Amino acid sequence: MRTVDLIHRKRDGEELSAEEITFLVEGYTRSEIPDYQMSAFLMATFFAGMSDHEVDTMTHVMVRSGEVVDLSAVPGLKVDKHSTGGVGDKTSLIAAPIAAAAGVVVPMISGRALGHTGGTLDKLEAIPGFRTNLTIDEFRSQLAEHKLALIGQTPQIAPADGKLYALRDVTATVESIPLIASSIMSKKLSVGIDALVLDVKVGSGAFMKRQVDARRLAQMMVGIGRRADKRVQALITDMDQPLGFAIGNALEIMEVSQTLQNIGPVDLTTLSLELAARMIHLGKAAPSIDEAREIAQQKLLNGDGYRKFKDVIQAQGGNPQVLDRFELLPNASGAREILSPRGGYITAINAQDIGLASAIIGAGRDTKEDTIDPAVGVILEAKVGQKIEAGGVLCRLYYTTEDRLEDAAQMIEDAFRISGQAPEERNLILEVVG
Ligand code: URA
Repeated sequence: MRTVDLIHRKRDGEELSAEEITFLVEGYTRSEIPDYQMSAFLMATFFAGMSDHEVDTMTHVMVRSGEVVDLSAVPGLKVDKHSTGGVGDKTSLIAAPIAAAAGVVVPMISGRALGHTGGTLDKLEAIPGFRTNLTIDEFRSQLAEHKLALIGQTPQIAPADGKLYALRDVTATVESIPLIASSIMSKKLSVGIDALVLDVKVGSGAFMKRQVDARRLAQMMVGIGRRADKRVQALITDMDQPLGFAIGNALEIMEVSQTLQNIGPVDLTTLSLELAARMIHLGKAAPSIDEAREIAQQKLLNGDGYRKFKDVIQAQGGNPQVLDRFELLPNASGAREILSPRGGYITAINAQDIGLASAIIGAGRDTKEDTIDPAVGVILEAKVGQKIEAGGVLCRLYYTTEDRLEDAAQMIEDAFRISGQAPEERNLILEVVG
């Protein structure tokens, strides 16, 4: 088999066999196929796409490149939740404790911020002392005791995906539906789950800018999961404006705490409860989705979700008091108000630009090597549909250094669209797939 022939055939839109995809992925992981040929294959895939059979093979070869975590010793169905990435998206830290409080085992492997999107792992690390690098044995025993453990990807999980993702990142081939689907699903299938709830984001702050693409991505991931005998559902949800009010790691932990005490933003609470309900239903802790919704609501209102998150913070080495005493979290040294240049209705808040502005003052990273400043970020004071006076506060920017502050402030001001006419209401949950 010659790599060049396979690139040629993929370029011309042919379907490759399981043996051929395996040859390419394994060859690249072992460094037998050079970057330039794999880059050409990825670009050909970007344009030609992949069949279900190809994407399944791609996923399973990446799973087999590493270790599959065996959670069979932990009693109960294991359900994870994954978001394709957004701005201000802290739903995992609300939905997971609520689902765990309802009796579902949640082995959550989370990612880091990259580009304009945030990462659950960075948010957790804003909590002083919180360890995201549990060993697999610690992960298992915490799951048995608390039903929820939150860790980062280990080098043993789907290493082929890690190597391919790094190449995609520098060859403009990240935004390919089969490559995203196989990348996400290879990591999820490596963690011994029985079921998975996916939150596929669409809009200005998401990978997928169009609903039709989000739907294809959702269908492809649900298909990969089901063919691997997992229960999988996807929600397609709006990421045309940031979720909640807080963007930035410590600020988002504060908003998680408020939401788990039922005093959080409506959009964040609504979506987190729906995701938790889907986890509870797929985890068979409720016989119907309506009953699962009731349980999720009850676990929020009676504080069980909030207490579960505190227990998990304590178990992973953090100080659970941060959820009550925000001064124990990293705090910014400066704040700057961004004022509305005119009066009117807010018709759009470009989530990508808000995410990038937060990233350039330190809340995110351009490359995997950059360090994060957990204290900085943005708190929105107004969301789409709200009326604002000229000179009214659109948001507050929290910073620790003035480097690039002006650029960020300008970018944020430009992210708001203000018009004389109220915008049409947009649904938060747009579709359910699966
Ligand atoms: N997240 C992943 O894990 N992989 C992708 O390809 C895109 C987002």
